Formats: sequence, structure tokens, C-alpha cells
Amino acid sequence: MTLVAPGSTIGILGGGQLGRMLALAAAAMGYRVHVLAPEAELPAGDVAAEVTRADYLDEAALAAFAAAVDVVTFEFENVPTAAVQALAARVPVYPGAFSLEIAQDRMTEKRFVEQLGGRPAPWRPVDSLADLEAALAALGTPAILKTRRMGYDGKGQARIATPADAAAAWASIGERPAVLEAFVHFSHEFSVLIARGRSGEIVQWPVPCNVHDGGILATSSVPAPAAVLAQAAEALALATRIAEALDHVGVLACEFFAAADGPRFNEMAPRVHNSGHWTIEGARVSQFENHIRAVCGLPLGTTDLTAPAVTMKNLLGDDVHDWPALLADPRAHLHLYGKSEVKPGRKMGHVTWL
Ligand SMILES: Nc1ncnc2c1ncn2[C@@H]1O[C@H](COP(=O)(O)OP(=O)(O)O)[C@@H](O)[C@H]1O
Ligand SMILES: [Mg+2]
Repeated sequence: MTLVAPGSTIGILGGGQLGRMLALAAAAMGYRVHVLAPEAELPAGDVAAEVTRADYLDEAALAAFAAAVDVVTFEFENVPTAAVQALAARVPVYPGAFSLEIAQDRMTEKRFVEQLGGRPAPWRPVDSLADLEAALAALGTPAILKTRRMGYDGKGQARIATPADAAAAWASIGERPAVLEAFVHFSHEFSVLIARGRSGEIVQWPVPCNVHDGGILATSSVPAPAAVLAQAAEALALATRIAEALDHVGVLACEFFAAADGPRFNEMAPRVHNSGHWTIEGARVSQFENHIRAVCGLPLGTTDLTAPAVTMKNLLGDDVHDWPALLADPRAHLHLYGKSEVKPGRKMGHVTWL
């Protein structure tokens, strides 16, 4: 596949903050970016050369988009695989539809990872209340019920403290196809961030230790504590096997729980990831730049740290109003995503300290 040289146009499916930061990295390398997404407000569209506001399954829009770009990537993993397949018939798309298909469904994802030797939390598929009751009897409580598809930031999940909560949990996730997971007692959460180039070379960033609050990422810090570093090599080896088995091109993020019996796989994202935002200032080459390099067929850049310690904090909801105080700290690197509506838990920006 031919190299996509600077000056070319990169198409991005999805218009959120991940697309915004990808577009900024692409522009810094001399690319034009064309964003396709359905929403009225597009944080990525504000910094792109072109925007197509269309449904992901709008065939005419997809055909015009394919004709206007030299390569396509995505920043949102719930883009319909049919859209990616339609584009892939006309223009190179990285990562491929297979990465998307596996990562879109928690059940498919867990099975795929288990085949590669990974260990998710003990889990069962759930398609009915009776399945849920049987799964709770098998796995015990506490447990977490998660929709197979479309979950993010803790949405589409119900925590189950006792078997008596089953019916309410099943109703609360909309009685949709789901998985039940045993609750993992972990000391820390961490993620493995790797980028794989078109020729198969892989780079990895130092693993961040991630703190979640109410199912939403609050902070990511490097270096991770010793308890995480002790599990990083095993987790990295698994992430590498996943990337190779998917023939993945671009950034792949895998979330893990550091449990007493070793790393437990939580979930993967076939794209740049919130736990890698610190790499913009904290690594020589960021996840965004290496993702662009990978999809364009360019060599990948070094992931070394630029400082001994880096912390990223998400600005959720009203946290965004703290920007003046954050800017008063000369060491703080402020990123705001240009979203007009502040909602509780909404990712409005982030701040990184070196
Ligand atoms: N099986 C589990 N055991 C313990 N905590 C969990 C489990 N599953 C999820 N969590 C907590 O909820 C957070 C969000 O869950 P996750 O499956 O990563 O969903 P999302 O797609 O919303 O990020 C996790 O980062 C973790 O803090
Ligand atoms: Mg997660």
C-alpha cells in the first residue's frame, strides 16, 4: 500500500475530542483532515480543513468522502462496520474493519482475547433475566452487568450487589444483549498503549496508572507504581498478540486491572485513548502523531518520556470552569475541546502536568 505523504488528506470518522487531537497532530505534519460525523457540534470539525456532516450509513456521503480523501481512520469505535467496509472498497482504511468488529462487542472481544491467552474477569453472556440469574449464581456478587455494544464512560452498565438486584439491573440496561462480569478486586487500573505500523513494527508508551470515578477516567499518571510495573510486561505481551492477530494498524489501547493473580484484561479500544492524552506533552511522540504516522505508512516515532513524571486529569462537566486557575499554574498544559454544552461527567477538556 502506498505511503500517504504530507499534503494528502486524511479522512476521520467521528468528530469528538479524539478526532480533534488527531487532526491537530495531522496538521502539524502537513496533512489536511476531512471529518465525517453526524453531530451538529463537532470538536474535530473546528480544526479540520473539511467537514461532512452526515450519517455514517449515508451512501452518497460516504462515496463523496471516499473520493475526497487519501486514507481513512476513525476516532469512534462505534462507527458501523458497514460504513468502514463501504469505504474500504474505495480507499485504504486503517485500522481495518476487523479491529472495529471485535472491539465493538464485549462478548466477541473477551472471546478473542481469551483465545490469545488473556484473562478477563470471569464472565457469562446474558440475553435474558433468566440468563442473568443463572450467571449471578455462577459468578456470585458483587458483579457488573454491561451491554455488549455501545457502552462508554460507565454507561450501559449496572453494578449488582446482591442477586435480588437482578431484575432492576436487567431493566436498567434496557434488556439488551449483555455480559455479566465478576467484580475484580484490583490494587490499580492501568492501560497498555501501543501503536502498530503498516509494516508490523510496534512501539509502546510507558504504561499509565488510571484512576476512574463512577466509571469515568479521572486521572492517568506515569510512571505507574511498582505493583503495576510488575504486571506491565505480561499485559504488553498480550496487547502485542492482540494487535498482531487483528493485523491492527494505528494505536491500540488495552485496559487492565492489576489483581492479586496478575493482569486481568478489561477492554480494548482500537483507537487513540483517553489514558494516552498525557503523551501530547509527556512523550517525545504522542499517541495522536504516531496514530497518524501509522495510518499513513510512515515510520513511528519514539515514545520516551519528556519528564520524570506526568499526570493527566480530565476536566469533566463543571471542572471546565476551573480553566483560569489551571492557567495560573505555569506548569499546567490546558486542553479544552470546544464543547458548548456542559453536562455532568462530560469530557470538556484535560490538563497535563510534567
Ligand atoms: N469487572 C469489574 N470489576 C471491577 N471494576 C470494574 C469492572 N468492570 C468495570 N469496572 C470499573 O468501571 C470502569 C468502566 O468500565 P469499562 O468496562 O472500562 O467500561 P467503559 O467502556 O465505560 O470504559 C472500569 O475502568 C473500572 O473502574
Ligand atoms: Mg473502560
